[in-house]
This record gives sequence, structure tokens and C-alpha cells, in this order.
Amino acid sequence: MALLNVNIDHVATIRQARKADEPDPVWAAVECELAGANGITVHLRQDRRHINDRDVRLLKETVACKFNLEMSLAEPIVRIAEQVVPDQVTLVPENRAELTTEGGLDCIRCQKQIQKIVRRMHKKGILVSAFILPEENQITAAAEAGCDAVELHTGPYANAKTDEAIEKALNQLRDGRDIAFAAGLVVHAGHGLTYRNIRPIARIEGLCELNIGHSIIARAVLVGLRQAAEEMIRLLQNK
Ligand code: PXP
Repeated sequence: MALLNVNIDHVATIRQARKADEPDPVWAAVECELAGANGITVHLRQDRRHINDRDVRLLKETVACKFNLEMSLAEPIVRIAEQVVPDQVTLVPENRAELTTEGGLDCIRCQKQIQKIVRRMHKKGILVSAFILPEENQITAAAEAGCDAVELHTGPYANAKTDEAIEKALNQLRDGRDIAFAAGLVVHAGHGLTYRNIRPIARIEGLCELNIGHSIIARAVLVGLRQAAEEMIRLLQNK
């Protein structure tokens, strides 16, 4: 069964809408953990639009399940990861104008830089995952750079409109999983997953962690975060 990491960035997005001190992502992490989440994911962006340095520091102290820090390859953020020592970092591309992460990390173009970051993270005992499109050359480049895992981008699946396009995207994810396994990588997936589209993804054998944010936080506004996370975990269990 795929395990759920809840991305709680949007809890901080609500806080930042008023530049206030609530809702606190640290409280949100506790609710996810009580619901049975495997991990808590946050993205410390360079513009600090939602999660900030204080959140990352406190989450490191308080999260008892897996703490997964999403980050770009930017040196100041890499240094923070070295200081905070999350359980895992997920390397993502970052563009200041985007609403959310767009596209996958280009592990071919950035391979040397990724390799250096992987070495630095491994020195601290931090696992490294790379968020990439399910393409053979990207998966191979991530493995060659020393990554422990890849997070396969499920955005193309989530955005697919026809049955044919959905099946094509699912096949690309299954093929990506096989290529990643052959390269010795652990396989995660995420982006754009919802209560409505999760089932075919949950049925793909071997995806060990799913990172899901927007849909869970959106539901939490109406039913509460613990219930929202529990409902998603139930869908992963009853696939
Ligand atoms: N995985 C990665 C690498 C992401 O950047 C994001 C968005 O922050 C997610 C998963 C979660 O995506 P969503 O909010 O669409 O569930």
C-alpha cells in the first residue's frame, strides 16, 4: 500500500493571507500524524510565500513521522536543509512566478549540481528524492546523481482529459516505476492527486509514498484536517 505524506504548505498559505500567526502548520502536522499519515511534507520556497524558516525548524522538532522537505537547488535553501536535517529532501524545480511546482526537475541539465547536493545530504544522513517526469533519461540521470528515490510527477495524469490520455499517463507512470526499480531507486509519486483521481494511482504496485497537498487541505476546510487525511488514507487502503 502506498503511504501518505500530507503536504501542509496551504495551511501556511492561509496564515500568510493575513500575515498572522494562525493557522499554524505545526498544529496541522499533529492532526495529520494523528490521522495516520506516514509523513509531513513542506516546501520551503525561496520567496517564503507560505512555509518559513521557523516552521521548518519547529516541524523538525515536533514531527514524529517522516519529515520531507521539498526544496530547490538554491544554495541558501540547501544550507538550511543541512542545518535542520529533515529525514528526506525532495529536490524540485522552482520558478518564482508559478502558483505551484511546474514540470519536473531537469536531472540531466542539473546532474552535477544534484550530485553535489546528494553528497552533502548523505553526509547528514538525509535521504534524497528528485521530483521528475516519468521519463527514462530523467530517471537514469537521477540514479546516476546518487538519489535514493524519485517522485514521479503525476500532474500529466491529473490533467489528462480523455480515457485514452489517462491510460497513457498511467502507463508512463508504470514504465517509470519499472525503470526506477531497475536503477535501484525507491519510487514516490505526487502532484494534482485528489479524492476523485487517486484510485488508479493507489493501484500501481510499488509506489511507496504519495505526496498530496491541495486536495486534502481543501477538504480539511470543510471537514477538518484529521478527517480529511483519514479519508485519503482509507482510499489508499481500499484500492
Ligand atoms: N509533490 C511535489 C514535488 C510538489 O511540489 C507538490 C506541490 O507542492 C506536491 C507533490 C503536492 O501537489 P498537490 O498540492 O497538487 O497535491
